[in-house]
Amino acid sequence: MKDQINELRKDALNSLASVTSRLELDAWRVRYLGKKSCLQAVLKGLGSLPADERKIAGAETNRLKNELECLLREKQAALEAASAQSPGQQDSLDITLPGRPASLGRLHPVTKVLHEMGVIFTSMGFEVVEGPEVEWDYYNFEALNIPKEHPARDSMQTFWVDMPTGEKGWEMLLRTHTSPMQIRVMEKQTPPLRIIVPGRVFRYEATDTTHIPMFHQIEGLAVDKGITMADLKGTLYEFSRRFFGPERKVRFRVDFFPFVEPGVDMAVECAVCKGDGCRLCGQSGWIEILGAGMVHPRVLEAGGIDPEEYSGFAFGMGIERVPLLRYGIDDIRLFYSSDLRFLRQF
Ligand code: PHE
Repeated sequence: MKDQINELRKDALNSLASVTSRLELDAWRVRYLGKKSCLQAVLKGLGSLPADERKIAGAETNRLKNELECLLREKQAALEAASAQSPGQQDSLDITLPGRPASLGRLHPVTKVLHEMGVIFTSMGFEVVEGPEVEWDYYNFEALNIPKEHPARDSMQTFWVDMPTGEKGWEMLLRTHTSPMQIRVMEKQTPPLRIIVPGRVFRYEATDTTHIPMFHQIEGLAVDKGITMADLKGTLYEFSRRFFGPERKVRFRVDFFPFVEPGVDMAVECAVCKGDGCRLCGQSGWIEILGAGMVHPRVLEAGGIDPEEYSGFAFGMGIERVPLLRYGIDDIRLFYSSDLRFLRQF
């Protein structure tokens, strides 16, 4: 009898050591302390023993029972403490809780603005085309009437790509604006043409609240017989009315770009101060958003189009400025710091 009890103890202790969950502990309890447990069987068997043996064996069995009950409570407490420390453990899973919804991504504010502009310009008959971000200096400068020694090259700090020059002696760079696509499109298509080119551009500039080395532009180009400055202004006024709202004032001023003649820049009334002057607009009340003008005859020629027969207008708009203006954001770097607390607001 004594051997049997010792065997039972050994067995119970061994199996308790491998218990890791409340479920397993419950099974252990049923097995060693329940109504149909081995312990109960031993207790039942006591009746058939001679009185003196029964007394000893009875005490022995009761001791084992107490011991196992005590171990059970200890193990229970240990498991509870462990699951309090790491909730979400298998046996604390509540299958009646609703599932966690999959979190949905969203479009970046700059992408959203590009899409919105695309909708406005395509409704006016412009077609969206895209071009290479790594470009030849021929398209980025030369064909746009910016020859090698022209000072306008200095105004666009360029990332040059260290590559052997192309077969035509052209050098490679990261495009500094979307204007090279004016030439590429004119080379391939015959007028009338109306295109917009959204895309990334790169400038070798130090980063601060208004400058980053990569930003976006949207280029516009229209070439046809008899296109005038009135078409340019009409198109851009209409764009501003639809994008910024009819009450926002628009201003054109003379500006210089080698690839247009005459050239202008367009500014919209500052959204923050409504023209009174504030920090965002540098106290001027206006914020310049694009350069534009009538396509220079030399540029038409470079694109294989006869400037005697055709004329055109072009514009190039900086994209990041627009959400900056719309939402009153004072640091352009926020767009590219991947901080979800910022990006989730749009
Ligand atoms: N490409 C010019 C820039 O990046 C903008 C521009 C485009 C000006 C087309 C005139 C016509 O500054």
